Amino acid sequence: MSVLEVKDLHVEVMDMDQKTHKEILKGLNLTMRTGEIHAIMGPNGTGKSTLSETIMGNPNYHVTQGHILLDGIDIVGMPVDERARRGLFLAMQYPAEVPGVTNQEFLHAAINARRPKDQPIAIMSFLNELDKNMALLDMKPEMAKRYLNQGFSGGEKKRNEILQMLMIKPSFGIMDEIDSGLDIDALRVVAHGINALRGDQFGALMITHYQRLLDYVVPDVVHVMMAGRVVKTGGPDLARKLEKEGYAGLRDELGLKVELVDED
Ligand SMILES: Nc1ncnc2c1ncn2[C@@H]1O[C@H](COP(=O)(O)OP(=O)(O)OP(=O)(O)O)[C@@H](O)[C@H]1O
Ligand SMILES: [Mg+2]
Repeated sequence: MSVLEVKDLHVEVMDMDQKTHKEILKGLNLTMRTGEIHAIMGPNGTGKSTLSETIMGNPNYHVTQGHILLDGIDIVGMPVDERARRGLFLAMQYPAEVPGVTNQEFLHAAINARRPKDQPIAIMSFLNELDKNMALLDMKPEMAKRYLNQGFSGGEKKRNEILQMLMIKPSFGIMDEIDSGLDIDALRVVAHGINALRGDQFGALMITHYQRLLDYVVPDVVHVMMAGRVVKTGGPDLARKLEKEGYAGLRDELGLKVELVDED
């Protein structure tokens, strides 16, 4: 079993307009284990993507205080590739296009990067697994030969992020709005992929705004983030309660002084 612990995390970003640092995460705590699916919900601009980028090691986000522990080892300061080798994966809110590298080449390289140098994956088993996982996600075989994400539709990009997880088999997958922009059928397919990843060796953190995804992938734990912190943690019923009552209701219940951007 692996454990990912975020402890009292404070993160700043550089505000390019004002040339100052702005604190986004303000003492965030979160613990997750493999075998568990966690969901994070929270208003726009609350720091959810900041959290996922910081866990993965995007250098634009500066940890000023706190720790991110993977099996007890602090990964703050480690480069992205090192974190990936240690079993972290981030499915980004806006996956980047990588012209010149095919989807298949990328997957092959990413899998081998996590294996000992003298034990690369056998090409036949790689291709068999690729076929199997693409079929599971209803992806056309030619998607493997296209440049990574280049010209992929929004939905194809999201499906492809799930394909990467199925192939790379990270211990923790962080999914930032994997459901955004998906049509109803694609949402089912993506959820099917996430459910296929479920198991003792895999833990997930799904950032989402909608109950819809959580109907298909029922989380073990739901966290609510506001103003840079996790303010409440509960079970799947917490997401349903939010859907009914909105964030203002929870905020008032918790007695928080947080301004919500879209409040009337
Ligand atoms: N690189 C950056 N430069 C300046 N401000 C940033 C940067 N990255 C994030 N922020 C600011 O940090 C705050 C949190 O942003 P973040 O993207 O983490 O929110 P979020 O919770 O993911 O929101 P959403 O639900 O809209 O995706 C926002 O006010 C955002 O403008
Ligand atoms: Mg976001």
